[in-house]
Amino acid sequence: MADAVEAIAGGAWPVAAASGTAGCQTAPAPQPIGSAGAAQNVFDFEAVAARNVPPAHFGFLQTGVDGEATLRANRTAFDDLYLNPRVLSGTARVDMSTELFGERWKTPIVLAPAGSQRAFHPEGEIATARAAGNQDNLQILSTVSTTSVEDVVAAYGGPVWYQLYPTASWDIAVALVARAEASGCRVLVLTVDSLGGEGTKETQARARSLDARNCSACHPSPDAYLARKPMFHGVDVSAADPALGWGANLDWEFVRRLSAHTSMKLVIKGVVTAPDAERCLENGADGIVVSNHGGRAVETGRGAIACLPAVVDAVSGQVPVLVDSGFRRGTDIYKGLALGASAVCVGRPYLWGLGAFGQPGVESVLTLLRAELEVVMRQMGAATLADIAPSSVRRHDGAGHIPARPAPG
Ligand SMILES: Cc1cc2nc3c(=O)[nH]c(=O)nc-3n(C[C@H](O)[C@H](O)[C@H](O)COP(=O)(O)O)c2cc1C
Repeated sequence: MADAVEAIAGGAWPVAAASGTAGCQTAPAPQPIGSAGAAQNVFDFEAVAARNVPPAHFGFLQTGVDGEATLRANRTAFDDLYLNPRVLSGTARVDMSTELFGERWKTPIVLAPAGSQRAFHPEGEIATARAAGNQDNLQILSTVSTTSVEDVVAAYGGPVWYQLYPTASWDIAVALVARAEASGCRVLVLTVDSLGGEGTKETQARARSLDARNCSACHPSPDAYLARKPMFHGVDVSAADPALGWGANLDWEFVRRLSAHTSMKLVIKGVVTAPDAERCLENGADGIVVSNHGGRAVETGRGAIACLPAVVDAVSGQVPVLVDSGFRRGTDIYKGLALGASAVCVGRPYLWGLGAFGQPGVESVLTLLRAELEVVMRQMGAATLADIAPSSVRRHDGAGHIPARPAPG
């Protein structure tokens, strides 16, 4: 492994080790690909991003928390599920469009919110927005973006969904919501899985020691973190209590208050159990993202795909359910859809594309995932998402209940 360590363009990440954290890489490219179009799968971007992106930033991209058991579970949970194909179905054309809150998207593949994208490429969220806009993929913008929501909406060519980290202060949350609303966003995604803090991002911390650059030039002090983020410009951040992180004090009353306050649809991201899904509905949520933050929040959790059926059952078609964490292949996305998701978000895959080649990298990741999903849908005899049969996905151990696919809410 030692001779796999490369030191190119300031990068010193063990490239061959990069795929290990993502899992499911059967035949890695013999050498990093030279262009976005040369990729066979999304993992091909990971090795290039490992080389291009400074080690401390790549560590931030890859990291899970603590021993990274949840991160691994997000991948291994897919191994429990197999596909039951349907031959001679005559499925020549596939329409994978999906409707969310009255708006139709060409594909159910969504770009999950991810902060600090200029850490991966100088164009950051702008490159991502252009790629997503060109391909008609829904993009969710993070509160801790390195580009303002106004600039992202302009680059995307229309409203994106806005992800909210509220902080412990209602006034700060309200200021962020007002700005998202004013820029045309119609859906607010409240992330709740990391409000009380996260485990330790050990991979990220270790990666810093590989980075010879002077970090303090860009990261002057932890106290200045919020003030440096464009979405907090003009917001009085003094009310954000650092001890309470993104809002350790918040409870369901906050969800009710937020839902009553905003004109946007409210989607709760980071739900993994049926009782919490029921609470979402009781407290005014319009949608749910089943997610464990890509293994970056709670450690020793269950793989997200394994959590999906219980949430779908609990919601029983009343609101749309999206899912993310660990989705890397068209087969993964198909399984998410068959288990009842209206759409599937991806995080690291498009960030690898961004770090590797900027906008063309993100576009290529989206194209690959769409092409892979299209093939699987044909193999399963599903011409549309509504045709996806729950029975086309089975568990190897025969255990567990896989619910019927409800109509999207
Ligand atoms: C580098 C990075 C930054 C992230 N930043 C945010 C964020 O600002 N807000 C948020 O709700 N989720 C954030 N997430 C979590 C993603 O939205 C998503 O849940 C996760 O990446 C999905 O897992 P995957 O990376 O395995 O696809 C981040 C994830 C990564 C990898």
